[in-house]
Amino acid sequence: MSRSLPIAVVAALLSGCLLPIASTQAQTNGVSFDATTKVFRLDAAGLTYAFGINDASELQPVYWGKSLGQQEHLPPPRRNEGNASFDLPSSTTPQEYAGWGAGLYVEPTLKATFPDGNRDLVLHYLEYATAHSPKGEELTVTLKDVASPLFVDLHYRIDAATGIIGRWATIRNRTAASVVLEEAGSATWNLPRGTDYSLRYLTGRWAGEWNLQKQHILPGETVLESKRGSTGHQNNPWFAIERGDHSDEETGDVWFGALAWSGNWRIAVEQDQLQQIRVTGGFNPFDFAYKLVPNQQLETPIFYAGYTSHGIGEASRILHRFELASILPQAPTPKPRPIIYNSWEATGFSVNEAGQEALAEKAAQIGIERFVMDDGWFGQRKDDHAGLGDWYVNKQKFPNGLKPMIDKIHALGMDFGLWVEPEMVNPDSALYRKHPDWTLNFTGRPRTEGRNQLLLNLARKDVRDYVYNFLDDILTSNQIAFLKWDYNRNWSEPGWPAVGPDSTEQKKVYVEYIRNLYSILADLRKNHPNVEIESCSGGGGRVDLGILGLTDEVWPSDNTDPLDRLTIQDGFTYAYTPGVMMAWVTDSPNWVNNRTTSLTYRFLSSMQGSLGVGANLDRWKPEDFATAKDLIASYKLIRETVQHGDLYRLISPRDGSEQSATESISPDKHQAVLFTLLHSSHEGYPFPRVYLRGLDPTAHYRVIPIAGSLTKDSLPVATGSYWMDHGVDVDLRGDLQAAAFRFEVVKD
Ligand code: DGJ
Repeated sequence: MSRSLPIAVVAALLSGCLLPIASTQAQTNGVSFDATTKVFRLDAAGLTYAFGINDASELQPVYWGKSLGQQEHLPPPRRNEGNASFDLPSSTTPQEYAGWGAGLYVEPTLKATFPDGNRDLVLHYLEYATAHSPKGEELTVTLKDVASPLFVDLHYRIDAATGIIGRWATIRNRTAASVVLEEAGSATWNLPRGTDYSLRYLTGRWAGEWNLQKQHILPGETVLESKRGSTGHQNNPWFAIERGDHSDEETGDVWFGALAWSGNWRIAVEQDQLQQIRVTGGFNPFDFAYKLVPNQQLETPIFYAGYTSHGIGEASRILHRFELASILPQAPTPKPRPIIYNSWEATGFSVNEAGQEALAEKAAQIGIERFVMDDGWFGQRKDDHAGLGDWYVNKQKFPNGLKPMIDKIHALGMDFGLWVEPEMVNPDSALYRKHPDWTLNFTGRPRTEGRNQLLLNLARKDVRDYVYNFLDDILTSNQIAFLKWDYNRNWSEPGWPAVGPDSTEQKKVYVEYIRNLYSILADLRKNHPNVEIESCSGGGGRVDLGILGLTDEVWPSDNTDPLDRLTIQDGFTYAYTPGVMMAWVTDSPNWVNNRTTSLTYRFLSSMQGSLGVGANLDRWKPEDFATAKDLIASYKLIRETVQHGDLYRLISPRDGSEQSATESISPDKHQAVLFTLLHSSHEGYPFPRVYLRGLDPTAHYRVIPIAGSLTKDSLPVATGSYWMDHGVDVDLRGDLQAAAFRFEVVKD
């Protein structure tokens, strides 16, 4: 019988006495403990995750992979006794959560300094408890330092639908003095000894995000991280590890994970001296310190991870389903993203009432559902040199405030969204002149500007309240359905002089800033429940499972070139659902690379995500409006499938590929959508045959073109098996061509 207690009871028990270990049977789903072998087991969605208490009282991983039958009694974990005096068992034995102490040469998950100078931390098993939560079965295992009352509660929560496990830690100081944490990870994920693993991860830069990397895991360590204050464009907090050389989109063992944190983060992937794989992630230990006074605690971000034996494609789909059902603020049933128009690429900072209204009239004609006014509407904002921080409506641009324009947009049948960049201030602003001390800074040192702006120190309560209040005020005084929340630079001089010169206090800024950011977003959502929010950071600089818990969509990149977007979008979908991936159709030639593309090509690139339009409609010809209207109407028929269905990446646009193809299929398998894009034809070769995936093999599907056509001899109706086994021949020739099709189940 497993111990299942309400969380409150568990908390009470944990703070006091030690829970006895109950003997349990392994369960098919949920959390169990075998008292004989001292092995904990989490089972769900066809996978098993197991770890146990070894002979030295450490928590040692046992198994993570395909579900083991209930009859399998996993052996008790045993320490690696090391093979040389240079490799101590504390280091060679994989651990769920290792303190830096007793000779640990791999990445610690926790490192602490005690006031007497002690820096040795050895965490041993103390007790456990289980609980039900709306998000899944939970297990909390408490560890304690061998010599002091420093406790670590390791939380495990398993999602019944996907088997994704969320792990995080609460570090509690019950000593009589302050303890400084210098490294605080969320979890270490372990994989058994092996030399045939490869690692995938995502890298990028502004306007060039979501590049997929793949490398063999060799002895040593690969560090994915951000030291920029926020998630960053450079690395994204996601990883996937595949075993063997034969894995592809649909086959092979894959372990994957993502960290729910929007501040400095780190994921270290190492192959240790015994060729064991460890993935340790959480707060970035770089420049990190968090002082816990007696009775204080620190909770780490959640590090989610999952497993599949069906390749990296299925790993992505599992993550997508999990994000839609468990992470997004509207989970488990997020609304489809409205089709937006955004003014940024059309007007830049030159927004005004007449100009926006003229664009809104045109946007309404093509079926746009949400009109978003971007940067430039506030303070003395003419360009990026001034105004950030002064969140009043600019009277020259909007003499009557925003209301007449918003009313007009409503009358046109759209709702209204507004751009804000709440965390920033231009030195040329009334706010900065009044509160120069509100920015991140080191006393007496220069303040480095990025895009002529500085960061407000959101960790300060007065700054947090200022930001919350002005946003609350804008949302209360105007009928606004949507905020595009932008963030256009990384940190510099991360000082917090107001808390005094103690650097362990000042360094709390890395945690408190993000916590306050999250609390502002949470309070806005609570008090304005109909307002949706987009996370934008000069494109895709702040996309992670933490911010996605509080925002409805993200802007993946400022790069809107439709060909570049194919690889950007492809990379994005390894970690995140297309249901949050905004994709605008903009002008041609594109500002990024001067590439000219047809409007249809641009639409079919963007329709693979959550569609928007950002082109200058004042320059469109009547035929452009007709094309846009037609494709937007088509998109409305497929958007549920594209945004909330299962995505199959059929032909990758990466690595110089001349083609790309994606398929999305609705959860009930009644509709599939195929997008095919051709970069350039060579020597008259036809477009490669495309094999659909995931259809109901016995159902009959009719193919309906959205744009373009299949080859002349293609069948109009065929079974799912036919489309999957025989495949689909698309008639695409030339340069930068695109076609798309709906496959609809034919009802008898
Ligand atoms: C960066 C964003 O990514 C753009 O879409 C736009 O909103 C600008 N900022 C506005 O300054």
